[in-house]
Amino acid sequence: MPARKGTTSAGGIDTLMTEKRKFKPSTKFTAQANGKKSLYTTANKDYVKFWEDMASELVWKKKWREGLKWKAPDAKWFVGGKLNVTESCLDRHIHNGRKNKAALIWEGEPGSHRTLTYFELYRQVNKFANVLKMLGIKKGDRVAIYLPMIPELMVSTLACARIGAIHSVVFGGFSPESLRDRINDLGAKLLITADGGYRRGQIVPLKHDADVALHDCPTVEDVVIVKRGDFLLRFKEGRDHWFHRLMQEADAYCPPVYVDAEHPLFVLYTSGTTGKPKGIVHTTGGYLTGVYATTKYVFDLKEDDVFWCTADVGWVTGHSYLVYGPTANGATQVMYEGAPDWPDQDRFWEIVEDYGVSVFYTAPTAIRAFMKWGKHWPGRHDLSSLRLLGTVGEPINPEAWMWYHEVIGNKRCPIVDTWWQTETGHIMITPLPGVTATKPGSATLPFPGIEMKILDDDGKEVKNGGGYLAITRPWPGMLRGIWGDRKRFVETYWSKWDGIYFPGDGAKVDSEKYLWVLGRVDDVINTAGHRISTMEVESALVEHEAVVEAAVVGVPHELKGEALAVFVTLAGDLELDQKLRARLKDFVARKIGAIARPEQLIFAPDLPKTRSGKIMRRLLKDIATGKVLGDTTTLADPDVLYQIKAHYEED
Ligand code: PRX
Repeated sequence: MPARKGTTSAGGIDTLMTEKRKFKPSTKFTAQANGKKSLYTTANKDYVKFWEDMASELVWKKKWREGLKWKAPDAKWFVGGKLNVTESCLDRHIHNGRKNKAALIWEGEPGSHRTLTYFELYRQVNKFANVLKMLGIKKGDRVAIYLPMIPELMVSTLACARIGAIHSVVFGGFSPESLRDRINDLGAKLLITADGGYRRGQIVPLKHDADVALHDCPTVEDVVIVKRGDFLLRFKEGRDHWFHRLMQEADAYCPPVYVDAEHPLFVLYTSGTTGKPKGIVHTTGGYLTGVYATTKYVFDLKEDDVFWCTADVGWVTGHSYLVYGPTANGATQVMYEGAPDWPDQDRFWEIVEDYGVSVFYTAPTAIRAFMKWGKHWPGRHDLSSLRLLGTVGEPINPEAWMWYHEVIGNKRCPIVDTWWQTETGHIMITPLPGVTATKPGSATLPFPGIEMKILDDDGKEVKNGGGYLAITRPWPGMLRGIWGDRKRFVETYWSKWDGIYFPGDGAKVDSEKYLWVLGRVDDVINTAGHRISTMEVESALVEHEAVVEAAVVGVPHELKGEALAVFVTLAGDLELDQKLRARLKDFVARKIGAIARPEQLIFAPDLPKTRSGKIMRRLLKDIATGKVLGDTTTLADPDVLYQIKAHYEED
C-alpha cells in the first residue's frame, strides 16, 4: 500500500496520499494510439493554431477569419465562422461510408433494445427539427428537455441544434421545482418530456412532475411528450402533443440553420456557491471543436470501437461525450436507460459483454459501488472487449483506481482520469492514452493546447505542492457566460486573479508536473459526482415550517465520495426525532431531487457564526467528521459549537 501523508493546501483541503505507483503505456497500445507525444509540442508552439487545426476536421459552412479574439473574460473562437453542428455529427457520416453504421445502441432498463444507424438518427433528427419548426420554434428560442435516457433525448438535443434553437436539458431526477426554476430562468418556449421513465424497476412520473412545474411557467407554450411506456397522464389539449404523432406528419429533411460560431448551442444548469443554479452558456464552434478533439484523442476512438459513457445527458458529461463528441467522430455508442444494479449488480458488465463495449467511461462513485458489490459480478462476464477505461466527476481514490485497473481492465487497459467541469465544456486534464504514464489518483497533465497551473492566493505559481487550480489560457469549449447574469459570471470565475479562470478546485502539483485534484474549495459538495450547492439545500430546508436555520456540509462517504450532513435549528421547542428527520430528508429530496437527500441531520440549538454573521461551516464539518475543532476564535459565541457537539455525540 502507498504511504499516506497529510498535506495542507492553500484551499484548506485536508489530506492527500503520496502515491508512488506509475503505469507506463504498453508498446502495443502506443503503436495504435490516435494521440502522439508531438501533439503537446505542436500545441505549445501555437495553441490557437492547434485548435484551428482541430476545427478544420469539422464541417463549416464558412471558414473563420480569426482563430481567437480574447479579452478576458470574453473569448470568441473561430470569429466569423458559420456552421451547423449537426452537419459534423450526422450529415457527413451519411456520405462518408458510415450511413449504415450503428450510431446508437440503446438498452432500456426493462430490457428492450433499439439500434439507430447514422442514417436513422439523421432522419429522426431532421423530422423532429421540422416538428420544432412547426411548433414555432426558431433560432435562439430556448427548449427545455426533461427526458429519461432514451434515444429521443439525443434526437431532441440534435434537432434543436439543427435549427439553431438553444436546448437546456434538465436531469430527469430533478424535482418539479428545480425544473420550474430552470425553465423560468431561461424563458423556455417549449418543453420536451415523456410519459415516464424507468429507474430500478420503478416508474419515474416525468409528465406528472412536469405538469406540477408547468403550473408556474408562463413562457411554455407547448409540451411534446414521448411515449416511453403506457403510463397514465393528464393530457392538456392545445398545449400537449404526442411526439410520435407529430413525427408521423413531419418531412424527412430539414435544411440546417447555419449559425455564427459563437451562437449559443445550449445552456446547462450547475450548482455554484450561491443558492440559485447557474445557467452555463456554451456556444457552437469552439464547444464542438473541443469535444470533438478530446473524444478523438482521449478515448482514442477507432472505426470499430463501441464507446459507452454511462453519464446521463442531464449532466455535462452526457452532453459532451454522448451527444456531441462521439457523433462528431462517427462512433458507435451505447446508451443505457437505467441503474447499474437493476435487476442485478452486474447489469453494466452484461451490457459490456452483450455489445462488445471497447471504451468505457464512468464515475468514481460507480466504481466504488462496484467494488462494494464484489468482483464476482464482473467475474461472470467476458470483458475482454474492453481496451480503454475512463473516469470523471470527482477525485478517484487510488484503491478504486487499482480495482478498476485490475478487475475491470484486467491490467491491460489504460485508465484516463479526466478532470473538467460543466463550465469547461470538455476534458481539460487527462492522460493521453498510449502517451502519458499514469499514476493512480492523478488526472495527470493538461490536454494539448490547455494551460493550467497551481496558484496561491496572490496568483503566484506553486511549482511543487498544493494550491488552487487555475486555467491560464482560453480554450475553445469555455463557458461564455451565465445565462442572464454577467456580474455573477465575472465574480465567480474571473475575480480571484486577473484574466485567469478559477474553477473552484484545490489541487497539488508534483515534481513531474502531474496534477492531483483534491476537491472543491467553495461551498459546493461533490456527491456521487454531482455538484450540489450547500446554499441551495439550505434555502430549501428553511422553507420547511419546522426549520429556522440550516447549514450543510460535506462529509466523506464510502460510495458517494461526499454526502450531505445538515445542521438544523428548529422552530419553537420542536424535537428532531426520527419522524421529523425522515420528513426533512424527504422534503429536500422533493424540493431539489433525490441526489440531494441528506445523509445525516444534526440538531443545532444555534449555528456557529462569525461576528459578521457568516456561518462557519468549516467548524461544523469538523464536528460531522469527528475531527478536533479548528480555530474558534473568530466565533461570536464559541459555546454554541460545544452544544452542537454534545448533541451530535448524543445521537
Ligand atoms: O471538483 C471537480 C470535480 O467535479 C467538478 C465539476 O463538476 P461538474 O461541473 O458537475 O462536472 C462533472 C463532470 C465533468 C470539478 O470542479 N471533478 C470532475 N472530474 C474530476 C473532478 N475531480 C477530480 N478528478 C476528476 N477527474
